[in-house]
Amino acid sequence: MSPLPLAGLRVLLGVSGGIAAYKAAELVRRLRDAGAEVRVVLTANAARFVTALTFQALSGHPVRTSLWDESAEAAMGHIELARWADEILIAPASADLLARLAHGHADDLLGTLVLASAAPVSVAPAMNRQMWANAATRANLDLLAARGVRVLGPAAGSQACGETGEGRLLEVDDLVARLVAARGPRMLDGVRVLVSAGPTYEDIDPVRFIGNRSSGRMGFAIAEAAVAAGATVTLVAGPVALATPLGVTRVDVRSACEMRDAVLGAAPAHDVFISAAAVGDYRPAQASASKLKKTGQSRTLELVQNPDILAELGQSAARPLLVGFAAETDELERHAREKLELKGLDLIAANQVGERLGFECADNALLLLWPGGREPLAQADKRVLATALVARVAERLHARGGQSR
Ligand code: C5P
Repeated sequence: MSPLPLAGLRVLLGVSGGIAAYKAAELVRRLRDAGAEVRVVLTANAARFVTALTFQALSGHPVRTSLWDESAEAAMGHIELARWADEILIAPASADLLARLAHGHADDLLGTLVLASAAPVSVAPAMNRQMWANAATRANLDLLAARGVRVLGPAAGSQACGETGEGRLLEVDDLVARLVAARGPRMLDGVRVLVSAGPTYEDIDPVRFIGNRSSGRMGFAIAEAAVAAGATVTLVAGPVALATPLGVTRVDVRSACEMRDAVLGAAPAHDVFISAAAVGDYRPAQASASKLKKTGQSRTLELVQNPDILAELGQSAARPLLVGFAAETDELERHAREKLELKGLDLIAANQVGERLGFECADNALLLLWPGGREPLAQADKRVLATALVARVAERLHARGGQSR
Protein backbone atom coordinates (compact mmCIF):
# COMPACT_ATOMS: atom_id res chain seq x y z
CA MET A 1 0.00 0.00 0.00
CA SER A 2 1.42 3.41 -0.90
CA PRO A 3 1.92 5.78 2.04
CA LEU A 4 -0.61 8.56 2.51
CA PRO A 5 0.56 11.71 0.69
CA LEU A 6 0.69 13.85 3.84
CA ALA A 7 1.54 11.07 6.32
CA GLY A 8 2.62 12.50 9.66
CA LEU A 9 2.62 16.09 8.43
CA ARG A 10 1.62 18.56 11.15
CA VAL A 11 -0.64 21.09 9.48
CA LEU A 12 -1.71 24.25 11.23
CA LEU A 13 -4.88 25.28 9.43
CA GLY A 14 -5.70 28.97 9.76
CA VAL A 15 -9.26 29.94 8.88
CA SER A 16 -10.05 33.58 8.23
CA GLY A 17 -13.38 35.32 7.99
CA GLY A 18 -15.35 34.75 4.81
CA ILE A 19 -18.32 32.80 3.61
CA ALA A 20 -15.99 30.08 2.28
CA ALA A 21 -14.98 29.32 5.89
CA TYR A 22 -17.58 26.54 5.94
CA LYS A 23 -15.52 24.65 3.34
CA ALA A 24 -12.57 24.59 5.73
CA ALA A 25 -14.48 22.02 7.82
CA GLU A 26 -14.39 19.56 4.93
CA LEU A 27 -10.76 20.50 4.35
CA VAL A 28 -9.85 19.30 7.85
CA ARG A 29 -11.29 15.89 7.02
CA ARG A 30 -9.51 15.67 3.69
CA LEU A 31 -6.18 16.69 5.22
CA ARG A 32 -6.60 13.99 7.86
CA ASP A 33 -7.62 11.46 5.19
CA ALA A 34 -4.33 12.32 3.48
CA GLY A 35 -2.48 11.45 6.69
CA ALA A 36 -1.94 14.90 8.19
CA GLU A 37 -2.37 15.86 11.82
CA VAL A 38 -4.38 19.06 11.90
CA ARG A 39 -4.74 21.85 14.44
CA VAL A 40 -7.03 24.72 13.70
CA VAL A 41 -6.84 28.42 14.46
CA LEU A 42 -9.84 30.62 13.70
CA THR A 43 -9.55 34.37 13.37
CA ALA A 44 -12.15 36.42 15.26
CA ASN A 45 -14.02 37.02 12.01
CA ALA A 46 -13.91 33.34 11.04
CA ALA A 47 -15.59 32.54 14.36
CA ARG A 48 -18.55 34.63 13.20
CA PHE A 49 -19.04 32.31 10.22
CA VAL A 50 -18.19 28.90 11.72
CA THR A 51 -17.85 27.51 15.23
CA ALA A 52 -14.76 26.28 17.01
CA LEU A 53 -16.72 23.22 18.11
CA THR A 54 -17.08 21.96 14.53
CA PHE A 55 -13.36 22.18 13.99
CA GLN A 56 -12.55 20.68 17.35
CA ALA A 57 -14.69 17.64 16.55
CA LEU A 58 -13.20 17.25 13.07
CA SER A 59 -9.56 17.80 14.00
CA GLY A 60 -9.70 15.98 17.34
CA HIS A 61 -7.85 18.87 19.01
CA PRO A 62 -8.85 22.04 20.83
CA VAL A 63 -9.27 24.99 18.51
CA ARG A 64 -7.52 28.28 19.21
CA THR A 65 -9.20 31.57 18.46
CA SER A 66 -7.33 34.15 20.52
CA LEU A 67 -3.89 35.12 21.71
CA TRP A 68 -5.39 35.80 25.11
CA ASP A 69 -6.94 32.43 25.85
CA GLU A 70 -5.22 31.57 29.16
CA SER A 71 -6.19 27.90 29.41
CA ALA A 72 -5.03 27.28 25.84
CA GLU A 73 -1.79 29.15 26.46
CA ALA A 74 -1.19 26.84 29.43
CA ALA A 75 -1.85 23.71 27.30
CA MET A 76 0.03 24.64 24.14
CA GLY A 77 1.25 28.20 24.00
CA HIS A 78 1.25 30.06 20.72
CA ILE A 79 5.03 29.80 20.35
CA GLU A 80 4.85 26.05 20.86
CA LEU A 81 2.07 25.86 18.29
CA ALA A 82 4.19 27.86 15.85
CA ARG A 83 7.07 25.41 16.41
CA TRP A 84 4.77 22.40 16.21
CA ALA A 85 3.65 23.15 12.66
CA ASP A 86 5.40 21.57 9.66
CA GLU A 87 3.10 23.49 7.37
CA ILE A 88 0.80 26.47 7.78
CA LEU A 89 -2.19 26.46 5.47
CA ILE A 90 -4.60 29.38 5.52
CA ALA A 91 -7.91 28.57 3.85
CA PRO A 92 -9.87 30.60 3.16
CA ALA A 93 -7.47 33.55 3.15
CA SER A 94 -9.51 36.76 3.03
CA ALA A 95 -8.28 39.98 1.41
CA ASP A 96 -7.85 41.47 4.87
CA LEU A 97 -5.84 38.53 6.12
CA LEU A 98 -3.54 38.70 3.07
CA ALA A 99 -3.01 42.41 3.73
CA ARG A 100 -2.14 41.74 7.36
CA LEU A 101 0.23 38.90 6.46
CA ALA A 102 1.92 41.01 3.80
CA HIS A 103 2.66 43.67 6.39
CA GLY A 104 3.63 41.35 9.20
CA HIS A 105 0.81 42.21 11.59
CA ALA A 106 0.87 40.31 14.86
CA ASP A 107 -2.25 41.70 16.49
CA ASP A 108 -4.06 38.37 16.57
CA LEU A 109 -3.19 34.72 17.05
CA LEU A 110 -2.95 33.70 13.38
CA GLY A 111 -0.78 36.67 12.40
CA THR A 112 1.51 35.99 15.34
CA LEU A 113 1.79 32.29 14.52
CA VAL A 114 2.77 33.00 10.91
CA LEU A 115 5.48 35.40 12.06
CA ALA A 116 6.72 33.07 14.79
CA SER A 117 6.89 29.92 12.68
CA ALA A 118 9.61 28.70 10.35
CA ALA A 119 7.13 26.41 8.57
CA PRO A 120 6.27 27.02 4.91
CA VAL A 121 3.07 29.00 4.48
CA SER A 122 0.37 28.37 1.88
CA VAL A 123 -2.63 30.61 1.39
CA ALA A 124 -5.84 29.77 -0.47
CA PRO A 125 -7.48 33.12 -1.25
CA ALA A 126 -11.26 33.46 -1.35
CA MET A 127 -13.00 36.74 -1.95
CA ASN A 128 -15.24 38.72 -4.26
CA ARG A 129 -13.76 39.03 -7.76
CA GLN A 130 -13.33 42.80 -7.53
CA MET A 131 -11.46 42.45 -4.26
CA TRP A 132 -9.27 39.79 -5.88
CA ALA A 133 -8.55 42.04 -8.87
CA ASN A 134 -7.92 45.12 -6.72
CA ALA A 135 -4.41 46.55 -7.05
CA ALA A 136 -3.95 46.50 -3.26
CA THR A 137 -4.69 42.76 -3.12
CA ARG A 138 -2.40 42.09 -6.09
CA ALA A 139 0.43 44.03 -4.46
CA ASN A 140 -0.03 42.16 -1.17
CA LEU A 141 0.05 38.83 -2.99
CA ASP A 142 3.15 39.82 -4.94
CA LEU A 143 4.86 40.65 -1.64
CA LEU A 144 3.84 37.34 -0.11
CA ALA A 145 4.80 35.32 -3.19
CA ALA A 146 8.19 37.06 -3.32
CA ARG A 147 8.75 35.90 0.24
CA GLY A 148 8.02 32.31 -0.70
CA VAL A 149 4.40 32.09 0.44
CA ARG A 150 2.60 29.64 -1.86
CA VAL A 151 -0.63 30.90 -3.32
CA LEU A 152 -3.09 28.10 -4.03
CA GLY A 153 -5.84 29.27 -6.37
CA PRO A 154 -8.28 30.91 -6.34
CA ALA A 155 -10.69 29.26 -8.77
CA ALA A 156 -13.10 31.05 -11.06
CA GLY A 157 -16.84 30.57 -11.07
CA SER A 158 -20.02 31.73 -9.41
CA GLN A 159 -19.51 33.51 -6.10
CA ALA A 160 -21.55 33.74 -2.91
CA CYS A 161 -22.10 37.45 -3.65
CA GLY A 162 -23.96 36.50 -6.84
CA GLU A 163 -21.17 37.59 -9.18
CA THR A 164 -19.09 35.36 -11.42
CA GLY A 165 -15.34 35.54 -11.73
CA GLU A 166 -12.04 34.74 -10.10
CA GLY A 167 -11.93 34.54 -6.33
CA ARG A 168 -13.60 31.29 -5.28
CA LEU A 169 -11.82 29.08 -2.81
CA LEU A 170 -10.34 26.09 -4.63
CA GLU A 171 -12.36 22.91 -4.29
CA VAL A 172 -11.20 21.06 -1.21
CA ASP A 173 -9.77 18.05 -3.09
CA ASP A 174 -7.92 20.35 -5.45
CA LEU A 175 -6.51 22.27 -2.48
CA VAL A 176 -5.16 19.13 -0.86
CA ALA A 177 -3.73 17.93 -4.20
CA ARG A 178 -1.95 21.25 -4.69
CA LEU A 179 -0.56 21.17 -1.20
CA VAL A 180 0.77 17.65 -1.81
CA ALA A 181 2.27 18.73 -5.15
CA ALA A 182 3.80 21.87 -3.65
CA ARG A 183 5.53 19.88 -0.92
CA GLY A 184 7.05 17.30 -3.26
CA PRO A 185 10.01 17.91 -5.54
CA ARG A 186 8.74 19.93 -8.45
CA MET A 187 9.25 19.05 -12.10
CA LEU A 188 10.78 22.35 -13.12
CA ASP A 189 12.70 23.33 -9.99
CA GLY A 190 15.62 25.52 -11.07
CA VAL A 191 14.49 25.64 -14.71
CA ARG A 192 14.16 29.00 -16.47
CA VAL A 193 11.16 29.15 -18.79
CA LEU A 194 10.39 31.83 -21.36
CA VAL A 195 6.80 32.00 -22.63
CA SER A 196 5.30 34.17 -25.35
CA ALA A 197 1.56 34.83 -25.34
CA GLY A 198 -1.20 36.80 -26.97
CA PRO A 199 -1.55 38.41 -30.38
CA THR A 200 0.68 40.97 -32.02
CA TYR A 201 -0.63 44.27 -33.37
CA GLU A 202 0.86 45.58 -36.58
CA ASP A 203 0.17 49.28 -36.91
CA ILE A 204 -1.30 50.70 -40.09
CA ASP A 205 -1.56 54.24 -38.76
CA PRO A 206 -1.90 55.80 -35.27
CA VAL A 207 -5.44 54.43 -34.81
CA ARG A 208 -5.57 51.22 -36.86
CA PHE A 209 -3.74 47.96 -36.73
CA ILE A 210 -3.78 44.37 -37.97
CA GLY A 211 -4.33 41.99 -35.06
CA ASN A 212 -5.79 38.58 -34.42
CA ARG A 213 -8.23 36.85 -32.08
CA SER A 214 -5.70 35.42 -29.62
CA SER A 215 -6.74 36.19 -26.01
CA GLY A 216 -3.40 35.19 -24.49
CA ARG A 217 -5.12 32.83 -22.05
CA MET A 218 -3.24 29.71 -23.12
CA GLY A 219 0.18 31.33 -22.77
CA PHE A 220 -0.73 32.96 -19.44
CA ALA A 221 -1.98 29.60 -18.14
CA ILE A 222 1.30 28.00 -19.22
CA ALA A 223 3.31 30.67 -17.40
CA GLU A 224 1.23 30.06 -14.27
CA ALA A 225 1.61 26.27 -14.53
CA ALA A 226 5.38 26.59 -15.03
CA VAL A 227 5.67 28.70 -11.86
CA ALA A 228 3.62 26.09 -9.98
CA ALA A 229 6.07 23.46 -11.26
CA GLY A 230 8.96 25.40 -9.74
CA ALA A 231 10.26 27.28 -12.79
CA THR A 232 11.47 30.86 -12.96
CA VAL A 233 9.26 32.35 -15.64
CA THR A 234 9.51 35.28 -18.03
CA LEU A 235 6.38 36.04 -20.04
CA VAL A 236 6.58 38.12 -23.20
CA ALA A 237 3.02 39.30 -23.76
CA GLY A 238 1.38 40.91 -26.75
CA PRO A 239 -1.58 43.26 -26.16
CA VAL A 240 -3.95 41.33 -23.89
CA ALA A 241 -6.33 42.17 -21.04
CA LEU A 242 -5.04 39.64 -18.52
CA ALA A 243 -3.52 39.98 -15.07
CA THR A 244 0.08 38.82 -14.67
CA PRO A 245 0.20 35.41 -12.95
CA LEU A 246 1.88 35.54 -9.55
CA GLY A 247 5.63 35.09 -9.56
CA VAL A 248 5.96 35.78 -13.30
CA THR A 249 8.21 38.48 -14.80
CA ARG A 250 6.24 40.09 -17.61
CA VAL A 251 7.54 42.00 -20.62
CA ASP A 252 4.84 43.76 -22.68
CA VAL A 253 5.26 44.13 -26.42
CA ARG A 254 2.99 45.18 -29.27
CA SER A 255 4.30 44.13 -32.68
CA ALA A 256 5.93 40.94 -33.97
CA CYS A 257 9.25 42.80 -34.36
CA GLU A 258 9.09 43.96 -30.74
CA MET A 259 8.25 40.42 -29.66
CA ARG A 260 11.19 39.07 -31.66
CA ASP A 261 13.61 41.48 -29.97
CA ALA A 262 12.25 40.65 -26.50
CA VAL A 263 12.30 36.88 -27.08
CA LEU A 264 15.71 36.69 -28.77
CA GLY A 265 17.16 38.96 -26.09
CA ALA A 266 15.82 36.83 -23.26
CA ALA A 267 16.27 33.35 -24.79
CA PRO A 268 19.97 32.82 -23.94
CA ALA A 269 19.12 33.12 -20.23
CA HIS A 270 16.38 30.48 -20.44
CA ASP A 271 16.30 26.68 -20.66
CA VAL A 272 12.92 26.43 -22.37
CA PHE A 273 10.98 28.65 -24.77
CA ILE A 274 7.26 27.99 -25.14
CA SER A 275 5.93 30.00 -28.06
CA ALA A 276 2.20 30.32 -27.42
CA ALA A 277 1.87 33.74 -29.06
CA ALA A 278 -0.14 34.14 -32.23
CA VAL A 279 2.50 36.17 -34.02
CA GLY A 280 1.23 38.15 -36.98
CA ASP A 281 2.76 36.78 -40.16
CA TYR A 282 2.65 40.13 -41.98
CA ARG A 283 2.88 43.81 -41.18
CA PRO A 284 2.21 46.91 -43.29
CA ALA A 285 5.31 47.81 -45.31
CA GLN A 286 4.98 51.28 -43.84
CA ALA A 287 2.99 52.51 -40.88
CA SER A 288 1.58 55.94 -41.65
CA ALA A 289 2.57 58.63 -39.13
CA SER A 290 -0.82 60.32 -39.51
CA LYS A 291 -4.34 58.89 -39.70
CA LEU A 292 -5.18 57.67 -43.19
CA LYS A 293 -8.13 59.52 -44.71
CA LYS A 294 -10.93 58.14 -46.84
CA THR A 295 -10.17 58.78 -50.51
CA GLY A 296 -13.46 57.65 -52.04
CA GLN A 297 -11.56 54.88 -53.78
CA SER A 298 -10.29 51.45 -52.87
CA ARG A 299 -6.92 51.31 -51.21
CA THR A 300 -4.14 48.73 -51.36
CA LEU A 301 -2.12 47.93 -48.29
CA GLU A 302 1.30 46.49 -48.98
CA LEU A 303 2.30 43.86 -46.44
CA VAL A 304 5.76 42.51 -45.72
CA GLN A 305 6.47 39.28 -43.92
CA ASN A 306 7.38 39.33 -40.24
CA PRO A 307 10.36 37.38 -38.91
CA ASP A 308 9.49 33.87 -37.69
CA ILE A 309 10.74 34.09 -34.12
CA LEU A 310 10.54 30.39 -33.37
CA ALA A 311 12.22 29.31 -36.59
CA GLU A 312 14.98 31.83 -35.97
CA LEU A 313 15.61 30.39 -32.52
CA GLY A 314 15.47 26.86 -33.96
CA GLN A 315 18.49 27.73 -36.07
CA SER A 316 20.56 29.34 -33.35
CA ALA A 317 23.40 27.31 -31.86
CA ALA A 318 22.72 27.65 -28.14
CA ARG A 319 18.97 27.34 -28.28
CA PRO A 320 16.69 26.48 -25.38
CA LEU A 321 14.28 23.55 -25.59
CA LEU A 322 11.74 24.80 -28.12
CA VAL A 323 8.00 24.29 -27.84
CA GLY A 324 5.72 25.66 -30.54
CA PHE A 325 2.00 25.86 -31.15
CA ALA A 326 0.17 25.19 -34.37
CA ALA A 327 -3.39 26.42 -34.81
CA GLU A 328 -4.85 24.69 -37.84
CA THR A 329 -8.22 24.53 -39.50
CA ASP A 330 -7.51 21.33 -41.46
CA GLU A 331 -5.13 18.37 -41.54
CA LEU A 332 -4.01 19.19 -38.04
CA GLU A 333 -1.46 16.44 -37.47
CA ARG A 334 0.21 16.64 -40.87
CA HIS A 335 0.63 20.42 -40.78
CA ALA A 336 1.78 20.40 -37.17
CA ARG A 337 4.39 17.71 -37.77
CA GLU A 338 5.67 19.65 -40.75
CA LYS A 339 6.12 22.69 -38.51
CA LEU A 340 7.83 20.61 -35.84
CA GLU A 341 10.45 19.56 -38.38
CA LEU A 342 10.67 22.76 -40.36
CA LYS A 343 11.19 24.96 -37.32
CA GLY A 344 13.48 22.48 -35.55
CA LEU A 345 11.22 22.12 -32.48
CA ASP A 346 11.38 19.67 -29.58
CA LEU A 347 7.61 19.65 -29.05
CA ILE A 348 4.59 21.14 -30.76
CA ALA A 349 1.08 21.60 -29.38
CA ALA A 350 -1.42 21.51 -32.20
CA ASN A 351 -4.96 22.71 -31.87
CA GLN A 352 -7.88 22.62 -34.22
CA VAL A 353 -9.35 26.08 -34.64
CA GLY A 354 -13.08 25.58 -34.52
CA GLU A 355 -16.41 26.63 -33.14
CA ARG A 356 -15.95 26.67 -29.37
CA LEU A 357 -12.27 25.82 -29.15
CA GLY A 358 -8.95 27.60 -29.33
CA PHE A 359 -9.18 31.32 -29.89
CA GLU A 360 -11.04 33.56 -27.42
CA CYS A 361 -12.35 30.67 -25.27
CA ALA A 362 -11.51 29.16 -21.91
CA ASP A 363 -11.36 25.63 -23.34
CA ASN A 364 -9.00 24.04 -25.78
CA ALA A 365 -7.94 20.57 -26.95
CA LEU A 366 -4.34 19.82 -27.91
CA LEU A 367 -2.43 17.22 -29.84
CA LEU A 368 1.15 17.07 -28.61
CA LEU A 369 3.74 15.92 -31.14
CA TRP A 370 7.46 15.43 -30.74
CA PRO A 371 10.06 13.56 -32.79
CA GLY A 372 8.87 9.95 -32.55
CA GLY A 373 5.82 10.53 -30.35
CA ARG A 374 2.32 11.91 -30.00
CA GLU A 375 -0.25 12.42 -27.25
CA PRO A 376 -3.73 13.87 -27.59
CA LEU A 377 -4.95 15.98 -24.65
CA ALA A 378 -8.76 15.98 -24.57
CA GLN A 379 -10.84 19.16 -24.42
CA ALA A 380 -10.41 20.90 -21.08
CA ASP A 381 -9.95 24.28 -19.47
CA LYS A 382 -6.75 25.94 -20.71
CA ARG A 383 -5.32 25.85 -17.18
CA VAL A 384 -5.74 22.08 -17.00
CA LEU A 385 -4.11 21.67 -20.42
CA ALA A 386 -1.30 24.02 -19.42
CA THR A 387 -0.44 21.83 -16.42
CA ALA A 388 -0.37 18.72 -18.63
CA LEU A 389 1.74 20.50 -21.25
CA VAL A 390 4.23 21.70 -18.63
CA ALA A 391 4.57 18.11 -17.37
CA ARG A 392 5.41 16.93 -20.92
CA VAL A 393 7.87 19.80 -21.36
CA ALA A 394 9.62 18.72 -18.15
CA GLU A 395 9.82 15.15 -19.51
CA ARG A 396 11.32 16.32 -22.81
CA LEU A 397 13.81 18.48 -20.93
CA HIS A 398 14.88 15.65 -18.66
CA ALA A 399 14.99 13.22 -21.63
CA ARG A 400 17.38 15.65 -23.30
CA GLY A 401 19.47 15.42 -20.16
CA GLY A 402 19.70 18.69 -18.37
CA GLN A 403 18.56 22.23 -18.30
CA SER A 404 20.33 23.83 -21.19
CA ARG A 405 22.27 22.82 -24.22
O1 C5P B 1 3.85 28.88 -38.80
P1 C5P B 1 2.85 29.09 -37.74
O2 C5P B 1 2.51 30.52 -37.53
O3 C5P B 1 1.63 28.24 -37.79
O4 C5P B 1 3.65 28.57 -36.44
C1 C5P B 1 3.13 28.67 -35.18
C2 C5P B 1 4.24 28.71 -34.16
O5 C5P B 1 5.31 29.55 -34.57
C3 C5P B 1 3.75 29.26 -32.86
O6 C5P B 1 4.42 28.63 -31.81
C4 C5P B 1 4.10 30.73 -32.98
O7 C5P B 1 4.25 31.32 -31.70
C5 C5P B 1 5.40 30.71 -33.76
N1 C5P B 1 5.58 31.86 -34.66
C6 C5P B 1 6.66 32.72 -34.49
N2 C5P B 1 6.85 33.78 -35.32
C7 C5P B 1 6.02 33.99 -36.36
C8 C5P B 1 4.93 33.14 -36.57
C9 C5P B 1 4.74 32.08 -35.70
O8 C5P B 1 7.43 32.52 -33.53
N3 C5P B 1 6.23 35.03 -37.16
